[in-house]
Amino acid sequence: MDLYRIKPGDGVVWITGASAGIGRQLAYQMVVEGYTVVGSARNADALSDLGKELAGANGEFFSLPCDVTDIEGMQAAVDSIEKDHGPIRLAVFNAGNYWPTPGEAMDLDAYRKNYEVNLFGVLNGLVPVVERMKGHGKGQIALVASVSGYTGLPAASAYGACKAAVNNMAESLKFDFDKMNIRIQVVNPGFIETPLSGKNEFEMPFLMPVDKAVERMVRGFEHGGFEITFPRRFTFILKLLRMLPHGIYFWLMARATGWNTRKLDYRDTTPAKNER
Ligand SMILES: NC(=O)c1ccc[n+]([C@@H]2O[C@H](COP(=O)([O-])OP(=O)(O)OC[C@H]3O[C@@H](n4cnc5c(N)ncnc54)[C@H](OP(=O)(O)O)[C@@H]3O)[C@@H](O)[C@H]2O)c1
Repeated sequence: MDLYRIKPGDGVVWITGASAGIGRQLAYQMVVEGYTVVGSARNADALSDLGKELAGANGEFFSLPCDVTDIEGMQAAVDSIEKDHGPIRLAVFNAGNYWPTPGEAMDLDAYRKNYEVNLFGVLNGLVPVVERMKGHGKGQIALVASVSGYTGLPAASAYGACKAAVNNMAESLKFDFDKMNIRIQVVNPGFIETPLSGKNEFEMPFLMPVDKAVERMVRGFEHGGFEITFPRRFTFILKLLRMLPHGIYFWLMARATGWNTRKLDYRDTTPAKNER
């Protein structure tokens, strides 16, 4: 059986994290291409500005402010989208954030925040959306993870673990979702130019403009397979790295990131300094 695939004019696309970065550009691009998009995020003004920018475009944009960590709020968002705009055919769980978790300053609060947004923030929307899609007999879901989920990277022991969990969760769910005609995909971006990556103080290899990244995502939703990943040259290298014996992997990665010469700095890595 061919699994369901989104096309313009068929129901609603719901995008979380639509106020900035990848989610904003994705909402913009899909509305320009004729889709009906509901965009969620906490920043209501930014969503409303996007709506104004999109006035007169081929498709329609509706904003629905919501915090992905609010379980009841996410259930209510799903209910109100289906009541006001029709069935959700594609849900893109894109909202995310990064709190660094260096080994010398382990901070439970930073771990919790990463998990609340990047893992439970996905589940809080996924569970009610799947209930609806089961009822409709079709649907498509895209979980935005990251290449940081492929292997353990310095200072990303919480963020990377969440993204690894999202990848594993999507693989596991695919076995049952296929039988329900719900296509599940995972998006693993490398470094993309957004406000989030703009906080990085190191040089980001293969940094990709956000419009190019979003172009890959939309084509991936319409034609692609289980994993949508870009820029390909970078993600291919990372996939090769994860196949290396651990000893070689740690040696190479410490040098590639400069972590082999980085000194532990207990003063500068207090939890308060980690706040972004
Ligand atoms: N940029 C990269 O290089 C890169 C690489 C790999 C993966 N990713 C992933 O791609 C996704 C998008 O990242 P980005 O770079 O576009 O980040 P961004 O520019 O910081 O945008 C993040 C979006 O998520 C929303 N968000 C954050 N916390 C939220 C919450 N609690 N509830 C609802 N919305 C929330 C933000 O909106 P509000 O603040 O208005 O709520 C914003 O719209 C994330 O999952 C990120 O992990 C990014």
